Amino acid sequence: HVFIERLTSTPTYKGNNMNADALKKMAAEAALRYIQPGMVVGVGTGSTTNFFIAALGAAKIHVDGYVASSIATENRLKAQGLNVLDLNATGDIPVYVDGADEADPHFRLIKGGGGALTREKIVASAARLFICIADVSKDKPMLGKFPLPVEVIPFARSFVARQLVKLGGSPTLRNGVTTDNGNVILDVTGLDLSDPLRMEESINAIPGVLDNGIFAHRRADVMLFGSADGVIERK
Ligand code: 5RP
Repeated sequence: HVFIERLTSTPTYKGNNMNADALKKMAAEAALRYIQPGMVVGVGTGSTTNFFIAALGAAKIHVDGYVASSIATENRLKAQGLNVLDLNATGDIPVYVDGADEADPHFRLIKGGGGALTREKIVASAARLFICIADVSKDKPMLGKFPLPVEVIPFARSFVARQLVKLGGSPTLRNGVTTDNGNVILDVTGLDLSDPLRMEESINAIPGVLDNGIFAHRRADVMLFGSADGVIERK
């Protein structure tokens, strides 16, 4: 990655009283410049992505269609009258836009706060360009404060939890949550994420784990952070 840090827009809002939603919206709207007519666009999940979906609905760009990373996103896209496509029918896609729970200076991410991490990683991996949109509070020197979401087949829940403890983590079952794939989420604190690539692999090697929220193998290509001074773009 070439680290270009620049403000991409004249600040719309000034001062310290901007709330996180205004910053998320700013980042989401900045991602529109990457969307061209005729594209298939992958769409993530979460409150920041919801601002992106609203912006897509308003912008009416003549794209070929959208690939949703969750049932929630599919429903929101349809509610905007936007055409949802099956990833099995699109082949690889030019662009994917999604939020994150944490992002490090190498564009590696923790995702899955909304529980959609597995489909998100699939769509991100099928995309040539992954644009991550977030408020600037997600910009971290290193990953690991946010509890790491791990999607687990229910049958393996206790076994996987014990293996996560052996890796140094403290897993907690996310109560009342079933993923779009019919699985449960363990949120894991205390892991050493100084080598995110290795930890992503070690967790995914546990039988019963579907995927985990470390996006190090498929990190973002572009970061758009909404800040009180405007949108910070890194790529
Ligand atoms: C969902 C995700 C989200 O992108 C992440 O949790 C950030 O969410 P938000 O935009 O609501 O802050 O990974 O699985």
